[in-house]
Amino acid sequence: MMLPLFLALNILSSTEPVLGARHGQMPREKKLNSGGTEDLVTNLPGQPKVDFRHYAGYIKVNEKNGRALFYWFYESLTLPGEKPLVLWLNGGRIIRPTRFIGIKFGPGCSSVGYGATQEIGPFIVDTDGHDLRMNPYAWTTEANMLFLESPVGVGFSYSNTTSDYDNLGDDFTGKYVPELAEIIHDKNTDRSLFIDLRGILLGNPETCDAEDWKGLVDYAWSHAVVSDETHKTIRESCDFDSNSTWSNENCSQAVDEVLNQYREIDIYSLYTSVCIGNSTSSEDKSLQVVFKSTSKMIPRIMGGYDPCLDDYAKTYYNRPDVQKALHVSDGNRIRNWNICNMDIFKGWKDSKESVLPIYNKLIDGGLRIWVYSGDTDGRVPVLSTRYSLSTLGLPITRAWRPWYHQKQVGGWLQEYEGLTFATFRGAGHAVPIFKPGESLAFFSSFLRGESPPFQR
Ligand SMILES: *[C@@H]1O[C@H](CO)[C@@H](O)[C@H](O)[C@H]1NC(C)=O
Ligand SMILES: *[C@@H]1O[C@H](CO)[C@@H](O)[C@H](O)[C@H]1NC(C)=O
Ligand SMILES: *[C@@H]1O[C@H](CO)[C@@H](O)[C@H](O)[C@H]1NC(C)=O
Ligand SMILES: *[C@@H]1O[C@H](CO)[C@@H](O)[C@H](O)[C@H]1NC(C)=O
Repeated sequence: MMLPLFLALNILSSTEPVLGARHGQMPREKKLNSGGTEDLVTNLPGQPKVDFRHYAGYIKVNEKNGRALFYWFYESLTLPGEKPLVLWLNGGRIIRPTRFIGIKFGPGCSSVGYGATQEIGPFIVDTDGHDLRMNPYAWTTEANMLFLESPVGVGFSYSNTTSDYDNLGDDFTGKYVPELAEIIHDKNTDRSLFIDLRGILLGNPETCDAEDWKGLVDYAWSHAVVSDETHKTIRESCDFDSNSTWSNENCSQAVDEVLNQYREIDIYSLYTSVCIGNSTSSEDKSLQVVFKSTSKMIPRIMGGYDPCLDDYAKTYYNRPDVQKALHVSDGNRIRNWNICNMDIFKGWKDSKESVLPIYNKLIDGGLRIWVYSGDTDGRVPVLSTRYSLSTLGLPITRAWRPWYHQKQVGGWLQEYEGLTFATFRGAGHAVPIFKPGESLAFFSSFLRGESPPFQR
């Protein structure tokens, strides 16, 4: 575990020398050679001409079982040697369930398909899956960005040992942001392993099962997705703090009603349209709710704001010439790429009920922790995050107030001792898709450790 990383919308950032060709700080198993020619991407189909370098390929993480994770690393647009490194992970965590996080996005979704090509990377897969267009709000403006498909089974990442796929869970190789930050924090006591981790940034992250559920149902009711009667039944019969929430039939049925209503719209973005049309990847569609009645798994709905974007990505990443350019295959035997792998989600073994203890530990460790929330996401709604964070009982250092971007209210912000919470007004789960300019400005504030502007 050498890489700073980011999940369902989480970021770890380090202001140490940039990871990349010149500094060669890839995981021990794979050092980019000086000059990085081996993984340098030179012929990416449909790519506009650019002045920065990017690298893609596999990192072998387990020699014996033959496990390899796919990464894509973009140097910052300017002065990469002076910019921090940010690891981005989509995938959220499963909180009985999410994660959105990565989350959107439970474990099993690709940070290349979402983060890199829809949200914050320099290239966005355009409508037909044939061209890439430049993203003027790419986060590479501010940082070197590393996207990792994790765990094996996601995107291009794989294992040659099939049983590896049966053992996936938070405690296996797939670590999401809070857990990964904790590991780095713990291992940093050994100076020889030291990683200069400065902070984590989490977007609409799943945090604590009970509070996340309460937030999900209250949000659905307060946003006119379900009736007063359904909400009343939930209030009276659901005990989200217990281990047997779903054994109460009345509760189960009422929550199913919430999920059924959400099948009609995009739970990740309440006020935008769904993709109507021929789906090439129905098994990945965002309207698919996976709900484990035997556990407290929050329904996992795969997909982001525009499910059609998912299809373009699928078309693009399954092209032989694209796979060759990204050092995934020789261009003949291609790998089947999907934006989400539902089996991973369904088979996820272990996941923590709450990452709040980790938050506490990281806060004590002095890490910068910023949590943001797009306020039109129904999947990990702003209420879930507020309920979760309030259980931390952190002292407020700066009270609730609007923050601004280009003289408009970007959202609201509250600062606690050790943690900053912000909303994005009118943004769905994958915030940067909806509010790219605001997101980049916010990200820049995060890296500098300065609050976003709170005056017009
Ligand atoms: C997996 O097996 C293939 C075929 O034997 C091999 O080329 C590849 O290097 C293996 N992957 C890893 C990560 O060991
Ligand atoms: C739920 O189960 C976990 C482990 O299975 C246990 O640690 C916890 O105390 C239980 N919580 C309740 C409220 O029973
Ligand atoms: C479920 O609801 C029905 C009708 O509203 C009620 O009669 C029954 O007592 C409820 N069951 C439980 C376990 O609360
Ligand atoms: C989409 O579906 C329509 C009706 O089922 C069909 O006529 C059309 O050929 C399909 N288009 C594509 C691109 O698959």
